[in-house]
Amino acid sequence: MMYMNIERFHFQVDPLDKLLPEGIPRNSMVGIFGETGTGKSVLLNEIAYRALQRGDTVSFILLEDTPLSRIINMEHLGFDIVPYLEKGKLRFLDCFSYRLTERGFEFPERFLDLRERIKGSVIEAEDPRNVDEIWSHLEREARMMRGKGMILMDSLTECLTISTDPGSLLDLIKASKAVVSKYYFIPFMYTFHFGFFDEFRYALEVASDGVIDLRFDPDLIKMYLVKQMRVRRMSGSYHYPGWITFEVERGKGLVTVEVKKGNEKLAKGSERGLKK
Ligand SMILES: Nc1ncnc2c1ncn2[C@@H]1O[C@H](COP(=O)(O)OP(=O)(O)OP(=O)(O)O)[C@@H](O)[C@H]1O
Ligand SMILES: [Mg+2]
Repeated sequence: MMYMNIERFHFQVDPLDKLLPEGIPRNSMVGIFGETGTGKSVLLNEIAYRALQRGDTVSFILLEDTPLSRIINMEHLGFDIVPYLEKGKLRFLDCFSYRLTERGFEFPERFLDLRERIKGSVIEAEDPRNVDEIWSHLEREARMMRGKGMILMDSLTECLTISTDPGSLLDLIKASKAVVSKYYFIPFMYTFHFGFFDEFRYALEVASDGVIDLRFDPDLIKMYLVKQMRVRRMSGSYHYPGWITFEVERGKGLVTVEVKKGNEKLAKGSERGLKK
């Protein structure tokens, strides 16, 4: 059915497409949950880049780093996002640089030329501790996208950490689900670290349409940090029920890797070796 094709999309991120072979409904709010270093930001970066490649508009709310540092990180992954920023296809809400501005730090001089090129696509939040500023940005972006784009937030935990009123932020997330995803048909995805605001974690999981978990393989964790991903819930979609192991590869992004039993043996062997 035509209707179905328009209203669903594939991430075009290798491990995620294996977990969700039919894609997901566009009107979804999805959380990416996991401890530090499991690859939440890198996953969101690739989701953004693939969306840009297929012609979508992406609005990225940055709470943990500056637009410049995000550009550099993505370039290291092999994703050149500067042309999309120049065209206005990628837009950043910078909720990090207020820390520098407040303390009177000027933008680094050697990057002034780059800043000039992308200035139309970067908005520096005046005070991201104020939930209203984030809300009006979300609503405006979703309205302007006209059903063809996505909104990403990295990370929601950081938003809770700085917010003067974390309780109302939870309301804002529920309002975003209603307005951004359900009304405007714009997928809204956020990352969430474990360990802070765990009381919000459960409310968020229930409020979201989808929950993606990232972790380090518990069987190997004593020796290696092997990243794994699974879909715990995705309303309206079939999903593979198991964990998929992945690596981050320059130029390719996230790639699925086969779990080799030999590696496990190697890990156990070295462990014994260490004990000797
Ligand atoms: N450009 C890259 N090239 C290779 N590996 C990378 C690259 N970027 C990230 N990684 C891998 O991903 C890991 C961290 O990923 P990421 O920053 O996405 O973690 P996170 O889950 O967002 O953590 P946090 O909760 O602290 O924000 C790194 O430790 C590294 O193994
Ligand atoms: Mg991160």
